[in-house]
Amino acid sequence: MVLVSGSGTNLQALIDASTSPDYGVEIVAVGSDRPGILALERAEKHGVETFVLETSSYADRASWDIDLAAKVEGFDPDLVVLAGFMKLAGPAFLALFGGRTLNTHPALSPSFPGMHGPRDALAYGVKITGATLFVVDEGVDTGPIVAQVAVPVLDDDDEDTLHERIKASERAMLVEWVGKLARENFHIDDRAVRLGGAPT
Ligand code: GAR
Repeated sequence: MVLVSGSGTNLQALIDASTSPDYGVEIVAVGSDRPGILALERAEKHGVETFVLETSSYADRASWDIDLAAKVEGFDPDLVVLAGFMKLAGPAFLALFGGRTLNTHPALSPSFPGMHGPRDALAYGVKITGATLFVVDEGVDTGPIVAQVAVPVLDDDDEDTLHERIKASERAMLVEWVGKLARENFHIDDRAVRLGGAPT
């Protein structure tokens, strides 16, 4: 199950990988908090069921969170991947899917959390940034880290060129690790994400 808010290039990479049976991942549905986005078109083109739950249709964020959790539960996913999903998972969602929801963030955590990772890295003047795949917890981009990839910042970068370069590496990391986690299972030992089921 994948949740999206934007252009869906990360989703597309997962769709492409999932067409190979060896990859071991089936995308059961794609959900969004916005209608009319390219990511939904990509899912529909692939024949995957989609849904949209807009926060503006709800009295408050808590009610939206409860409905999102129920909607996702209806697809009975093993893993939920937030691929450019620009909303925070709330308590109702985490009660059902905590520990098996992954998010990808375009910065090297714990630096530059939030909505503008590439812009914030550029403004700070770092020479290396990247992307982080992590297990979602109640914080903003604070969960246990699955994988990271480093990307150089070039002198003539602007936010768009830097983000595009990050996204190329981010997609490869996402595909590699979602496949591994799905095929091999994983557990969390303190903050360390380890492949394989929990030791007995
Ligand atoms: C990705 O770079 C993802 O890391 C970022 O949005 C982009 C989505 O691209 N997510 C966040 O910034 C979440 N804090 P895509 O829609 O083309 O996959």
